[in-house]
Amino acid sequence: MTTILHLDSSARPGRSGAQPHGSHTRRLTARFLERYRQLDSETEVIYRDLGAEPPAPVTGNWVHAAFTPPAAREPWMAEVLAQSDQLVDELLRADIIVAGVPMYNFGPPAQFKAWIDNIVRIGRTFGFDRARPGEPYWPLLADAGKQLVILSSRGDYGYGPGQRLEGLNHVEASVRSAFRYIGVEQAFSAAIEYDEFGDERLARSIAEAEQATDRLAEAIAARRAPDAARRVA
Ligand SMILES: Cc1cc2nc3c(=O)[nH]c(=O)nc-3n(C[C@H](O)[C@H](O)[C@H](O)COP(=O)(O)O)c2cc1C
Repeated sequence: MTTILHLDSSARPGRSGAQPHGSHTRRLTARFLERYRQLDSETEVIYRDLGAEPPAPVTGNWVHAAFTPPAAREPWMAEVLAQSDQLVDELLRADIIVAGVPMYNFGPPAQFKAWIDNIVRIGRTFGFDRARPGEPYWPLLADAGKQLVILSSRGDYGYGPGQRLEGLNHVEASVRSAFRYIGVEQAFSAAIEYDEFGDERLARSIAEAEQATDRLAEAIAARRAPDAARRVA
């Protein structure tokens, strides 16, 4: 059984190609899920629409509660951490995290960042001990074999490696850094560009990103499901 945590974070509700003004990242995450499920029939999906229901941003009380050892927590602290605990539980159950993360002002949307802030949790996804020699922080999800797929979209173009706006793209790098910090090292990505132009370059970019998304689903399924490689061939 493979568990996929499917996250969408676009503020736009529908999918491009299916609904007017729909989201490209929702289109790509749905495409990944569809292709993956064709190849691995034993798939369970946990869905979180962070765009429709953004997690609460962390507060002073949240920080106080999270950094209080569980045995010393007061009842109000459990309440403050309840949503974060649920988001962490979902992440811990997942083998694959498929995240739709549009570029908003050069980084991930605030709703996705709020999710990150809620799942990077001391004692649950990372460890910290200031007395520990060498490395006081350590990842708790290392060796869990989790894989991350980041599916993005941008209005402009040229944000890829070696391209004109590479230095302004803080989407994939920041998401990968947070996941690496908690121990998820295997990360893959694909992105659509030219959304603001709406011309044939956008159409080409969508087609290429869809192909890349299919290839990612196939490669990951081939490693997880014994008969998936045969189905792809
Ligand atoms: C609030 C906001 C900020 C944006 N900032 C950028 C940006 O910094 N660079 C860029 O190329 N496109 C930017 N865009 C365009 C989006 O990245 C583009 O429309 C993308 O397709 C959105 O993802 P979605 O289609 O899944 O909704 C922005 C869009 C919005 C709504």
